[in-house]
Amino acid sequence: MDNIVTGHALGKKLLRVLEGKRETIPPVWLMRQAGRYLPEYRSTRERAGGFLNLCFNPVLAAEVTLQPVRRFNFDAAILFSDILVVPLALGRKVEFLVGEGPKLEPLDAAGIAAVRETVDANVLAPIYETVRRVKSELDDKTALIGFCGAPWTVATYMVAGEATPDQAPARLLAYRDPEAFERLIDRIVQASIKYLVGQFKAGAEVVQIFDTWAGVLGPEQFERWCIAPTQKIVEGVRRQVPAAKIIGFPRGAGAMALPYVEMTGVSAVGIDWTFERSIARDALQPRVPVQGNIDPLALLAGSAALDREVDDVMKELGDGPLIINLGHGILPETPIANVERMLKRVRG
Ligand code: CP3
Repeated sequence: MDNIVTGHALGKKLLRVLEGKRETIPPVWLMRQAGRYLPEYRSTRERAGGFLNLCFNPVLAAEVTLQPVRRFNFDAAILFSDILVVPLALGRKVEFLVGEGPKLEPLDAAGIAAVRETVDANVLAPIYETVRRVKSELDDKTALIGFCGAPWTVATYMVAGEATPDQAPARLLAYRDPEAFERLIDRIVQASIKYLVGQFKAGAEVVQIFDTWAGVLGPEQFERWCIAPTQKIVEGVRRQVPAAKIIGFPRGAGAMALPYVEMTGVSAVGIDWTFERSIARDALQPRVPVQGNIDPLALLAGSAALDREVDDVMKELGDGPLIINLGHGILPETPIANVERMLKRVRG
């Protein structure tokens, strides 16, 4: 499987950076680049009949994956799907209510025993089909990124059943019944390994592990619920895809980003916009390429605030291997002209 990852590497900026090279003009893509800030996304979602129908419709999901690449010529496409398809494949109910976000059946310690031990492959099959379709449409400069949620972040939604401000329900369950919680985490780890290997086999060249809620964990909990499961996924995927390029995004990790990089074995690390850039340069970049970290609100604000933010990322991190991105997903209210402005600032 080595050839999948390295075959076209030289033509693709993102893959060169993931090999540890510095690019004079760094590669750029944006988390959540396929989404509601694009009118063409909103109309395709309507045609699909809702968000989950869009995720499981390979023709339309491939279409929205490609929309931002066509419009902005990003250096990578990211598979259009969601991290919560893994709980679906583990037999949980998942819905997306318009304007409210995800709703799942909440889980307690007793409920964890009823979670499937392995994924239902039929649920994930259409997503691999999306990957194949996108891959066949991409040119030889644009990389294809697949993804999954990190076990901790996926578990927070499975336990609470919805987004909460600080993921207290999952943190409480992890304190009260760590054995049960570990069983849940292990199931998500195994499911994620299968899911990511499936994406690589279908044509993904890189995958990102989104740990959106890593930052609510104290250091000891961070090691147990963020680092250890991520490390198992990295190892499990590389057992089947030895050269797999894996970007870890432990949002809010702060000082824990260094042990995260050292212990998980990720190929690159995404940092959020609160991360001090000179520390990322001195402590992280000598070990792995760094991805980030423009504040999504600076992108929304635009004008001089955006220019300053872009210039600062380039100044602090541009002398090493850097992937320009946001510090979290693009906000739906973001003007398209601001994305164009950002790209011009990066690419000259
Ligand atoms: O990046 C991309 O363009 C690829 C697609 C993608 C989506 N979700 C599409 C989506 C990716 C990579 C994700 C990841 C994801 N999903 C994360 C991790 C990254 C992050 O942003 O923190 C999380 C926590 C989820 C779970 C999720 N999905 C939530 C909490 C919500 C509701 C909040 C929101 O932004 O609406 C979603 C919905 C969702 N996922 C949308 C999109 C485009 C919006 C739904 C819609 O179009 O109606």
